[in-house]
Amino acid sequence: MRVLTGIQPSGDLHIGNYFGSIKPMIESQEEHEVFAFIANYHAMTSLDDGGRLSHLTMQAATDFLALGMNPAKSTFWVQSDVKEVLELYWVLSSFTPMGLLERAHSYKDKVAKGIASNHNLFSYPVLMAADIVLFGSQIIPVGKDQIQHVEIARDIALKFNNRYGDILTLPEFRVDENVATVPGTDGQKMSKSYGNTITIFGEEKAQLKTIKKIVTELVGMEEPKEYANCNVYNIVKLFLDENERVALQERYTRGGEGHGHFKLYLADVLWEYFRPFRERRAYYESHPDEVRDILKSGADKARAVAQPIIEKVRSVTGITY
Ligand code: ADP
Ligand code: TRP
Repeated sequence: MRVLTGIQPSGDLHIGNYFGSIKPMIESQEEHEVFAFIANYHAMTSLDDGGRLSHLTMQAATDFLALGMNPAKSTFWVQSDVKEVLELYWVLSSFTPMGLLERAHSYKDKVAKGIASNHNLFSYPVLMAADIVLFGSQIIPVGKDQIQHVEIARDIALKFNNRYGDILTLPEFRVDENVATVPGTDGQKMSKSYGNTITIFGEEKAQLKTIKKIVTELVGMEEPKEYANCNVYNIVKLFLDENERVALQERYTRGGEGHGHFKLYLADVLWEYFRPFRERRAYYESHPDEVRDILKSGADKARAVAQPIIEKVRSVTGITY
């Protein structure tokens, strides 16, 4: 099964991103053919600072390699290194009714929020469709906000196939219902836009400072505490196995410890959990050329898969003459 993921290069990753999407993707490399790319063209819809975009692209590559993206098993590249995607984007535009894009929630939401709407924001789903069908992708794991984009990709591919024959693979989205929403320091969904995140690769002191801000109930030190609704517990449990969870639950119900103790425990667990990833990240950060080489080989692998598909498209549409 070919599974494709596009990653927006958008800065510091947080543990909500990790448990909600990165960890499942890394684990799926064991059983699926994973295609993952850094969507730097997509990022241009919200970024017009070239220095920042190239920095964020390298940061995303470094982070994902550190977290277990395995370039030997999977295909990992930067979107702009396989230019055929822009060609297919144009071809697919001929099979994209304006109304289909006008109905896109993500576009409407952004415009409603007052974000300047350039043509690239409007046509974003067509580029996403090209990303998907260029590699014959079958499954697209997404968060709920991206379901409609995959449906649009399917609609566009179907229209193309109706005109020119069974050439493009029709993708399906997959939403993992088992993945819980990770709470932020204020108990709401952890999200960059709410400023309540705990990052994966922050400095130790800064991490502790953030963890100390987690909102907890006011209960005296000696009293028993509720763990089920405790923000600290609900974050730290993600890192624990069953025995460790039970042991922590007992510490809550026994009393005699304050939330400050549980926060220190979380800081410790988090720091140890990400230690090997942090070490790998430090290595890649000091070897950017190695990262670029990995990305270039990934692009070569991706292009080899794209080539027969784009050639068929060129041929049936009459671009080859
Ligand atoms: P943010 O909300 O911080 O901007 P993104 O929208 O960039 O995060 O999310 C990237 C990926 O991480 C998505 O697949 C999303 O489902 C997942 N994700 C983000 N926040 C959480 C969270 N709090 N819990 C679980 N998954 C999350
Ligand atoms: N739109 C996706 C997001 O914002 C990123 C993305 C771009 C993508 N192209 C894709 C995701 C293709 C899956 C498949 O998160």
